[in-house]
Amino acid sequence: MKITGTTKITGVFGYPVRHSLSPVFQNAAFEYLGLDYIYIPLEVKPDNLGKAIEGVKALNFVGVNLTIPHKKAVIQYIDEIDEEARIIESVNTIVNKKGLLKGYSTDGYGFIRSLKEEKGIDISGKNVFILGAGGSAYAITGALIKGCASKIYISNRTEKKAELLKNTLSERLQFQNIFVVPFEERNDKKYWGDIELLVNTTSVGMKEGEPSLIDEKNIASVKLVYDLVYNRKTELIQLAKKNGIPHMDGLLMLIYQGAVSFEFWTGMKAPVEIMKKSIHTLT
Ligand code: ATR
Repeated sequence: MKITGTTKITGVFGYPVRHSLSPVFQNAAFEYLGLDYIYIPLEVKPDNLGKAIEGVKALNFVGVNLTIPHKKAVIQYIDEIDEEARIIESVNTIVNKKGLLKGYSTDGYGFIRSLKEEKGIDISGKNVFILGAGGSAYAITGALIKGCASKIYISNRTEKKAELLKNTLSERLQFQNIFVVPFEERNDKKYWGDIELLVNTTSVGMKEGEPSLIDEKNIASVKLVYDLVYNRKTELIQLAKKNGIPHMDGLLMLIYQGAVSFEFWTGMKAPVEIMKKSIHTLT
């Protein structure tokens, strides 16, 4: 990859950022398409976020990604915000449009697209069980509602966070078919008769030996398991595999949310297979 006087700059602001895989697959994509772009990791302390965002304009970056802990805090510093990002109060992508910064969340778009492109699944009319009520759960629930999912169950260790998610999104998106499942009842038979998609947005499974939050018989009853954890094959994914249930891991979600960002910045279709290959060689 050659950097020249005309190279367009993108990157990711995070704290920490050193473990980010985004530079690997974004640069692989630029290189594959012969685009004069570069993607760099930038460690930005929370106190410096405002200045760093001014820098996006001052240094004429094409755009940036935001990761932990900046996705919410960045909203106060941008000029415009996409509707989906506003609803879930999270921005992971900024596009610099001639000095005007517009914020998007590509997590939800990436999630929906990964289901469609990897497994041919359209979430319209589907019943979904979501574990967790953090930032990823907001993005995914928002995308499921927009994509006309039929019924959504949310279960979270801290129940009041699940209640807040439900109340916020059902009001903002005018959707009533969302229900909180008490965490201790999450494996009750009554919830599992017609669930098609199980999504884990919690960090459970990142550590080896952490048992799946959902029992094997319930996992075996769904059509697809999506686990957002991406550092290892979680016990949840292992159980899905054992029972012949189609499954997807967090690396795919990571790639697809990045693919959407790539397309915002370049206007070209992201070479998803190349991006996937570039990180599978590392993992
Ligand atoms: P993200 O932005 O990736 O969604 P987050 O906002 O930190 O991350 O959310 C982490 C989620 O994992 C939360 O839903 C958290 O539950 P709490 O709200 O009760 O904290 C969930 N989580 C983390 N560790 C967990 C554990 N050991 N058991 C169950 N849930 C856990």
